[in-house]
Amino acid sequence: MAVAPFGFATSPLPSLNANRITASATATTFSSTSSYSHQVSKLSKTFKSSSPLFSTWKPCLNPRCQVLFPEESIDSRALSASPLELLKSSPANRYTKERSSIVVIGLNVHTAPVEIREKLAIPEAQWPQGISELCAMNHIEEAAVLSTCNRMEIYVVALSQHRGVKEVTEWMSKISGIPVSELCKHLFVLYNKDATQHLFEVAAGLDSLVLGEGQILAQVKQVVKVGQGVAGFDRKISGMFKHAITVGKRVRSETNIASGSVSVSSAAVELALMKLPDSSYAAVRVLVIGAGKMGKLVIRHLVAKGCRNMVVLNRTEERVAAIREELKDVEIIYKPMTEMLACAAEADVVFTSTASETPLFLKEHVEMLPNVRSEVGRRLFIDISVPRNVEPCVSDLDTAVVYNVDDLNEVVVANKEDRLRKAMEAQTIIQEESNKFDAWKDSLETVPTIKKLKGYFERIRDAELNKCLSKIGDDMSDKKKAAIHDLSVSIVKKILHGPMENLRCDDAHSLSEILENMRALNRMFDLETDKSILEQKFEAKMGRKSK
Ligand SMILES: NC(=O)c1ccc[n+]([C@@H]2O[C@H](COP(=O)([O-])OP(=O)(O)OC[C@H]3O[C@@H](n4cnc5c(N)ncnc54)[C@H](OP(=O)(O)O)[C@@H]3O)[C@@H](O)[C@H]2O)c1
Repeated sequence: MAVAPFGFATSPLPSLNANRITASATATTFSSTSSYSHQVSKLSKTFKSSSPLFSTWKPCLNPRCQVLFPEESIDSRALSASPLELLKSSPANRYTKERSSIVVIGLNVHTAPVEIREKLAIPEAQWPQGISELCAMNHIEEAAVLSTCNRMEIYVVALSQHRGVKEVTEWMSKISGIPVSELCKHLFVLYNKDATQHLFEVAAGLDSLVLGEGQILAQVKQVVKVGQGVAGFDRKISGMFKHAITVGKRVRSETNIASGSVSVSSAAVELALMKLPDSSYAAVRVLVIGAGKMGKLVIRHLVAKGCRNMVVLNRTEERVAAIREELKDVEIIYKPMTEMLACAAEADVVFTSTASETPLFLKEHVEMLPNVRSEVGRRLFIDISVPRNVEPCVSDLDTAVVYNVDDLNEVVVANKEDRLRKAMEAQTIIQEESNKFDAWKDSLETVPTIKKLKGYFERIRDAELNKCLSKIGDDMSDKKKAAIHDLSVSIVKKILHGPMENLRCDDAHSLSEILENMRALNRMFDLETDKSILEQKFEAKMGRKSK
């Protein structure tokens, strides 16, 4: 099914998720985990250290909701006004003091059940469009979308923290059709260092349901791959994601976080085993739907657990043929999607892992299927897709039961202590890398000084050269004129070499030295302009929009 565009900018309501499962949003499958309380504490810390808007923040049942909408502080009309108008009319003139911030606004497996997450899931092909829509907003400068089965997190560089958060939240509400008031119950928001650290933990697999699982690192890499060349996936955000990949690799190679760990696919195979009467695949008929990355992993784990034959359904046969080639001693029968119900009728256990936007199995389909053998009990659906491939109400039937990706928790919780120990090992690396990233990010502060300094010298060079050439008049060959020009360029370059070296963040210069040098150069050459950098950014943004 072709997925409709977000249409946020033009259409009143998004059609992106129009056909998705509309299960009631009761959080029955959401178990409050230690990771959740960890995030809450991270949040409290963030809010306290954050700007004055949150000084009125008081702990409540759901701090996320409170923090996202300090309504008394944000005038909704303000969002429609030009940022420059706001800048001028703002009594506190906050914009001139506030630096742009890295912010993550999102929900994940720890804060939202699958029925909420699936409404927000954005297919990879639409990430660039998501970035464009986010960056078209008044207070968003850069953006990235991290949408996986476990999480939907929007990372932005926001010109104003509060307005940025509000704009992103409203955008999330539009694309999902979930009212802001409902969405708030599940959202978390982190700023600057906390946001970076969170992404690093995500890439390391620390925030995954299945600790240390490898797929998340592949997904973070994919964000960078897809974002390349997309306007808005710019320096800070792409730098942060690239750094997260380094962290993910380091944590996996320098700690034993991934050793013996389960993955989503292996947990799915394990969960089915737990639910089968004999805890064995020897006598059950297995159907796998979807032969993408996940489907392939499920098949591999099934084989590792002794399953020797299975039927695999996919839209196209190529992927199944490739798997068959890899697993030569296993009987893998390919069937097209059109035979889905007939194949399900012959299966005891059905694994689903497709990227279909709409459910493949509705309750009325499953109701019509013949009963499985009495030894097996009920037909088992293990659905690891997000959005889900099997309607949740299938479990209402006496003849079938469906488990989704959140139910994998049952398999994963077993190793809680192991989790904690491994997570602590990884934290040292994350802290170290987080400091390195901060130093790099702060060193970007010198970029405007470098540009202004170069511009200042260039203007002097150009003016003096023109004066000199006009004094000489036309009595000079072009060759000699060019030589004088080159001489002026070369002198400026040589003079600038020293200051430039001292503005560069490398092993020879600490960040504090660089920032001190930057301030000194700004003073010496009077490089501070009347306008704040933020104000200039706003103007540039408005200029881009009016084109
Ligand atoms: N990657 C992960 O780490 C991960 C973890 C847990 C859960 N999941 C979930 O698992 C599902 C599959 O992810 P993946 O990583 O395996 O994706 P993938 O590698 O892109 O594979 C997508 C699969 O879905 C099939 N498909 C796509 N659109 C379909 C449609 N409209 N109807 C029927 N089949 C369709 C594809 O068939 P063709 O080969 O014919 O195109 C392919 O088999 C997703 O819902 C994802 O959220 C992924």
